[in-house]
Amino acid sequence: MSSYVIRKTPGDTAWFRHDRFGMFIHWGLYAMPARHEWIKTREQISEEKYDVYFKYFNPDLYDPREWARQAKAAGMKYVVLTSKHHEGFCMWDSQYTDYKCTNTPAGRDLVKEYVDAFRAEGLRIGFYYSLIDWHHPEYPIDKNHPRRNHPDAREMNKTRDMKKYAKYMRDQVTELLTNYGKIDILWFDFSYPGEPGSDDPLKMGKGKDDWEAEELIATARAIQPDIIIDNRTQIEQDLWTPEQYQPKEWVKDKDGNLVTWEACQTFSGSWGYYRDEQTWKSPEMLIQMLINTVSIGGNLLMNVGPTSRGFIDYRAEAALKTYADWMKYNDRSIYGCTMAEPELLALCPNGCKFTQSEDGKRLYIHLFEYPFQFLELPGFAGKVEYAQFLHDGSELLFQDKVEHFSEGKSQSDNLMVLRLPVVKPPMIVPVVELFLK
Ligand code: GLC
Repeated sequence: MSSYVIRKTPGDTAWFRHDRFGMFIHWGLYAMPARHEWIKTREQISEEKYDVYFKYFNPDLYDPREWARQAKAAGMKYVVLTSKHHEGFCMWDSQYTDYKCTNTPAGRDLVKEYVDAFRAEGLRIGFYYSLIDWHHPEYPIDKNHPRRNHPDAREMNKTRDMKKYAKYMRDQVTELLTNYGKIDILWFDFSYPGEPGSDDPLKMGKGKDDWEAEELIATARAIQPDIIIDNRTQIEQDLWTPEQYQPKEWVKDKDGNLVTWEACQTFSGSWGYYRDEQTWKSPEMLIQMLINTVSIGGNLLMNVGPTSRGFIDYRAEAALKTYADWMKYNDRSIYGCTMAEPELLALCPNGCKFTQSEDGKRLYIHLFEYPFQFLELPGFAGKVEYAQFLHDGSELLFQDKVEHFSEGKSQSDNLMVLRLPVVKPPMIVPVVELFLK
């Protein structure tokens, strides 16, 4: 069994660490301007102007069963949808606001259809819920708010009551966790500091006290006790969430304990659908990101931003297909795997990444660089019973304790040498599966 001790937390995280790979979905009114989900504040768009998106939002091509089929094929085992993003627009039929999808030409509860479709495909269900709300009349205007430079911002803030907004969040989280069956993940986003040294309300940030985060979390757990909750309320819960970067080692809490963690990443440079954004990650990057994450004990949540018509665009579809083609043959090195045991990890050759099955019996060598004819594994002699390519289950012959000649003298450094075909197999990252003795 894996020797790594992971900090215990209230939520049920065992399935999560086994499943490793999920789909993030950023979908809201911001798909209409189609130039980033922060567009309202980036361009300081007024409510009146932004309401045109509310007026015309009509995802007539919305088919969450198709989304779910693509996610499942890609090997994603769970999904997290933005039920409400920073714009404040609600993708479900909330009883606490009129700013919701059922009051647009969409005319339907988009969350309900999402939950039913992904659950039918066997994926676990998550909700992203924005703590930030640039539409709500009680939400105080601050440094990130679209109206931070409005001449009446200070006047408007005088009548805004953060406590009323915190109650609104508890009411909405109650709806989301009560009306849609078992929910596995609640993904709050996000707390942020104010301008250093400033006491100007318009330069302030917001954190756990503003959100009344303890009460918000307690509200969620009272309804769904096992739910996985992230750490972006500023109160550590079940999940640490490094974003848009690849940690180099297993994420730890402030006391140095290994934690359950999940890197979230975009296919391109935006979470929401961004028509003209061109920085799409290569197939190699996509596959290597997943392997890198699992090789240090983490999960990967890859994001799609569907169009306002309700379909996943061709670029995201192609990215999902990249995962589908690789995971179809190699998912055994991802699911139920984690960081290799320390004594093996120390032997990992350059250009390779290890993952190891939780039961310790199988080690996976991901060939990021494909060696010519041989892969030398110092320290592995006597450890391996059988070796094969994972993708096609074809045997790879190997020798132990081969005399290792260098600088004219022989040395046997407990070497195992795998023979590899000269031609790299048709896999973005070929994987060697070692059955350990
Ligand atoms: C950041 C972005 C937000 C996105 C989130 C996903 O907080 O500001 O738009 O939803 O990352 O992790």
